Amino acid sequence: MASLKIKNICCIGAGYVGGPTMAVFAQHCPNVKVTVADINESRIKLWNDSDTSNLPIYEPGLDKLISNCRNKNLFFTNNIQESIANADMIFLSVNTPTKSKGVGAGKASDLRWVEASARQVAKFAQGHTIVIEKSTLPVRTAKTIQRILTNSQEINLKKPKKSFSVLSNPEFLSEGTAIKDLQEPDRVLIGGEDQIAINSLVDLYTNWVPCEKIICTNLWSSELSKLTANAFLAQRISSINAISALCEATEADITQVSKAIGLDKRIGNEFLSPGPGFGGSCFQKDILNLVYLCEYYNLDEVARYWEEVININNWQKDRIAKLIVNSLFDTVSGKKLAILGFSFKANTNDTRNSASIDICRDLLEEGAILSIYDPKVDIHQIKKDLEIKSETKDMGNCLFANSIESATQDAHAVIILTEWKQFKDIAWEETIKKMKKPAWIFDTRSLIDVKKAKGVGFDIWQVGNQTKNN
Ligand code: UDX
Ligand code: UDX
Repeated sequence: MASLKIKNICCIGAGYVGGPTMAVFAQHCPNVKVTVADINESRIKLWNDSDTSNLPIYEPGLDKLISNCRNKNLFFTNNIQESIANADMIFLSVNTPTKSKGVGAGKASDLRWVEASARQVAKFAQGHTIVIEKSTLPVRTAKTIQRILTNSQEINLKKPKKSFSVLSNPEFLSEGTAIKDLQEPDRVLIGGEDQIAINSLVDLYTNWVPCEKIICTNLWSSELSKLTANAFLAQRISSINAISALCEATEADITQVSKAIGLDKRIGNEFLSPGPGFGGSCFQKDILNLVYLCEYYNLDEVARYWEEVININNWQKDRIAKLIVNSLFDTVSGKKLAILGFSFKANTNDTRNSASIDICRDLLEEGAILSIYDPKVDIHQIKKDLEIKSETKDMGNCLFANSIESATQDAHAVIILTEWKQFKDIAWEETIKKMKKPAWIFDTRSLIDVKKAKGVGFDIWQVGNQTKNN
């Protein structure tokens, strides 16, 4: 099979996707020089910090990988121009958030950074370059990238002509398990038309991924598969959250229901945990993208169908905030509430679209005093997410706790929003002694041993399961 020998890879975007993905490429392709380039200077500084506990993102196993490969065949830099010029393969892994204004605001993806990166590639690349979409993008973006690459070159007869092949190679990693997902992917998807470019990328992946797991499709199928995979996953969570509310209203227990349906091979047992609503940078954005696409093609019923997945997700967050207020005698004004967990899931410091943000905002709106503890999320990030402007550590109705003990001291309730392991076995007997009575636990992640906590005197609400409390 004809292919190009790739010696230099560049990835534009040193984020949650670009950083870990390139670290795994570097590990398995020791003869390839991998450069991750980003416009953000402070981020690159952290990627280059000799103390790997300062890496800009927290991901189990990443620090070890970085220590092994960095400055051998893995480099982090702000010099985008040089990295592009040296590369024979370029991954675009910049962020593509939902547009906040203009046509498609609130639904379509903002492609300005993808476009800017493509223009940089067009300008600085040399010879033939394979350009790969890693960011999740709306269907047919590859075509746009191709047009930018071919049309925005300066006409200069003295310089050798450049050429490009565009491929789509969506990333399916899940934060918190990114390294494992990258090392042992369920599948690798490559979309494109240029067989030599496809073979060149396949050659890299086969260094660690079995051939039968590498699937090649046309460009648009690849782009649409990524949106569809995320839409299906998010739909499962909205489905289980919807049933969790029904369980609370009846005598059913969601963990039993999940187990019973998950044993059906056709359904499968993963992604059936109820929670406070899904977060993360992808699910909402990708569904909104899908909705926008369906509307564009006049498929209104299909658009409404997928939109409902987001509506249920918002409803779940909203109903949890409301039931907390209702349980605390219809007012939380001036009451201290311990918030345990701020990241959108465990094992990451990422807070993008975290359910904690909306729930905390609603409680602050009701006048609660929140004491927030998360083992990995930085205080500045929490302030940014809750739009707290002050420079000081403690601010107004928000306190930032550095342990479970200080968060729960004098609190009326403990609200578990992220499934961090350490929240599973809290010393409830000690904890309740320092809390106001009646002391409540709101467990949105089905994490705690209800019997134990109830035994020492807590009132408990656990998502999808009110049976053990009666
Ligand atoms: C990824 C995907 O690329 C995105 O499509 C998906 O929906 C979310 O996950 P992620 O790696 O999580 O993005 O984003 P982020 O952590 O924000 O990293 C993007 C990086 O690109 C940032 O560090 C940013 O500074 C950089 N960037 C952005 C550039 O280097 N150049 C630009 O022009 C724009
Ligand atoms: C997701 C996709 O899983 C991944 O394939 C894609 O590349 C990016 O988007 P990520 O957002 O990192 O990954 O995390 P994921 O594990 O999918 O969790 C998303 C949200 O759903 C989290 O808020 C999580 O807590 C929630 N969730 C997940 C549940 O509430 N219940 C579950 O059973 C699973």
